[in-house]
Amino acid sequence: MSRELHLLTFGNTRSAGPWRHPEVDNSTAGVRRRLIEHAQTAQAGAFDAVFFADGLNYGPPATWAYKTTEDFEPLTTTAALSAVTERIGLVVTGSATLAHPYHLARQLLSLDHLSGGRAGWNLVTSFAQAAADNFSARGVVDHDERYRIAEEAIDVVTKLWDGWGEETIVEDRAAGVFNDVSSIRVADHHGRYFDVKGPIGAARSAQGRPVIFQAGSSETGRTFAARHAEVIFTSHGNRARAQDFYRQVHAQARALGRAHPPVITPSLRFIVGSTTEEAARAEREAYRYFSPEYQAGWLLEVDVDVVGADLDGPVPESAFPSSTQTHQTALAGYRFLATDGNPTVREFLYRTVNGWGASIVGTPEQVADEIEEWFTTGAADGFVLGDSGLPGQLALFVEQVVPVLRKRGLFRHEYTGRTLRDHLGLPVPERPAR
Ligand SMILES: Cc1cc2nc3c(=O)[nH]c(=O)nc-3n(C[C@H](O)[C@H](O)[C@H](O)COP(=O)(O)O)c2cc1C
Repeated sequence: MSRELHLLTFGNTRSAGPWRHPEVDNSTAGVRRRLIEHAQTAQAGAFDAVFFADGLNYGPPATWAYKTTEDFEPLTTTAALSAVTERIGLVVTGSATLAHPYHLARQLLSLDHLSGGRAGWNLVTSFAQAAADNFSARGVVDHDERYRIAEEAIDVVTKLWDGWGEETIVEDRAAGVFNDVSSIRVADHHGRYFDVKGPIGAARSAQGRPVIFQAGSSETGRTFAARHAEVIFTSHGNRARAQDFYRQVHAQARALGRAHPPVITPSLRFIVGSTTEEAARAEREAYRYFSPEYQAGWLLEVDVDVVGADLDGPVPESAFPSSTQTHQTALAGYRFLATDGNPTVREFLYRTVNGWGASIVGTPEQVADEIEEWFTTGAADGFVLGDSGLPGQLALFVEQVVPVLRKRGLFRHEYTGRTLRDHLGLPVPERPAR
């Protein structure tokens, strides 16, 4: 089978601004309707999955004035969405540092069953002090230590997921025996960070196990992702940087002897219009509702500080910490956005609406060209698409860009499978020998 493009979309938006748009209903009912519409629109376009990011905190206080409370918990949100969608994958962020692996394993496998095999776990290690502050932690755990915890957490979670085998459920009504207990594997895990006995009372799902997503970008994080991730989320300001990353991850995965390299999907923010003028108009509209104050507050989370700086002046060098262990990758990305073309502070802040990822504004053909170029030159296997938050942008993408991608033979015309693994072309993991 020829290589196929993968499309995901952010299900929740952390950006501020669009709530000010006159057509946006900010009531809880409105938010609920938008979440459902968003997932259903992506499904109408045969997208692989909708992805829910989560930081386990409401963000720096400097952002609170400017954003809505649309900060629903991802697992409960996706459980609700699983009942009003049939095919699209549902990817949930779960912290290996702050959530217990027993809960994670059970919640994610439950979602996988309830959705018919459509769950994915975006494994993060939670870098924010504000998140640590919500979990009785005495500070953010050191970066590399977080990945050591994640190594053990993923081991526990997969052991719990693999408790039941095909042969376990015998459902012998005459004898009154449901499970062949001899084939249940108890995790019985005793490690440095976790003691978990198990099992959890759920068989393997329609896709075996939830799909593992990971966004490690530092050296430690990338090595972790090359080892464990089935899909890698990433962000790059331009194609050349994405190609470097893609090459490195593939080389690492090969060195680790992986038969299937991870599917690599950078984030891409898009604004699309039927004509160049319409796209430019949509961009101006997005810019009108964009809040530099919110964006500046948000960047404090990764130690970039332009709060109070002259919005029309250059980005001051003092915006960046002189040294850091914590946010190496994010800072390198933001530094690039702050220096490439010497933007003003306001322009720099607008660029960061998609974190340190890339953006494209254009006609359906221009957006498709950009996607095709990244896809065919070893920069990406697909994208996590962020829309600008303007009403109707994802629908426009599905109506106008997806058909162009299909005509070029890059993207599926319809779903060919039922599970998230089917969409991503990933094999069902075997239950390892005892
Ligand atoms: C597309 C994308 C989405 C991410 N979503 C989240 C998220 O929802 N929650 C979170 O805590 N971190 C998220 N991150 C940050 C990563 O988990 C990770 O901390 C970051 O890529 C830095 O890598 P490192 O931990 O190896 O330094 C995301 C990163 C990217 C590129």
